[in-house]
Amino acid sequence: RHKLILDVDTGTDDAVAIMLAALHPTLELVACTTVNGNRTIEQTTDNTLRVLDHIGRGDIPVHAGLSRPIARLDFPIPRAERDPGVHFVEMPLAPARSRAKATDAVEFLIETYRAATEPITLVPVGPLSNIASALALFPKLVDFVPEVVIMGGGHAVSNVTPSAEFNIWADPEAAALVFAAGFRNLTLVPLDATHKAVISLDQCRVLRESGKPAAIAAATFVEKRIEGYRSYQTLDDQDAAPIHDALCVHHLVERNVIETFDYHVAVETTGALTVGRTVIDTNFRSRQPANAKVAMNADTERFGRFVVDTLTRF
Ligand code: BDR
Ligand code: CA
Repeated sequence: RHKLILDVDTGTDDAVAIMLAALHPTLELVACTTVNGNRTIEQTTDNTLRVLDHIGRGDIPVHAGLSRPIARLDFPIPRAERDPGVHFVEMPLAPARSRAKATDAVEFLIETYRAATEPITLVPVGPLSNIASALALFPKLVDFVPEVVIMGGGHAVSNVTPSAEFNIWADPEAAALVFAAGFRNLTLVPLDATHKAVISLDQCRVLRESGKPAAIAAATFVEKRIEGYRSYQTLDDQDAAPIHDALCVHHLVERNVIETFDYHVAVETTGALTVGRTVIDTNFRSRQPANAKVAMNADTERFGRFVVDTLTRF
């Protein structure tokens, strides 16, 4: 089974990603680490515990991470306050019975990768504060992590400012550090791909009708997103919404759900209008060697099938 660690800021799409990773029979979710992002660290940690308990996977350890960006004291406030529509403050699930582990996310990541005897893919789908902190303490981490799959950034698409995507914008110094760190095998899954990874109202109906706890919860999360996106962004299909973070998990099971290109990626940290932008060198202008495989597209139909099948069957 393919082992992974999900670094999450749960979050409705994070929640779907967690359930897919915890339930798919070819995946083994080793742990979730949590980070400030869509909500405060207390809320993202509590939400993560609720989601795992809800699907009977309270055995999966949760380690809480950074409560703020690595360099900016006032930036950002949790996304909730900017964009109340797509995430719940508190997951509409029973209060968590499980507790977060005493070891914090950064220490957990360093210790786990140092000791790992089998490959574990690292999948950060929130701001990169935990990963950057782990790198600052232990730069050799890059040699211990066999694969990183990041949800973040955008080339032709942005969401939180005219030029930036939320996860990267929310801790741009952390993101800059991660892309410059020298990971051997880093895949970036930006909005260009995740805007193709949508789930529709019709698919929510199928999820609900299955009667499975994970599927019903996913329908609730997706419906919240669809409703939120209607007032927040103009999408081609108003009856569907992107489930960004879930696409990274899907990619571990079906490698060809995304189409990737080798590009150099850097993160803008000083631009007055462009802070947090992923500068993806699609025209090879920087003369810097590629440091990422960047997903520029995704297969919508395949994604929908994967999400619905996984959550209704397992
Ligand atoms: C990213 O931002 C968050 O709100 C989502 O969970 C996703 O990880 C999309 O920009
Ligand atoms: Ca997220």
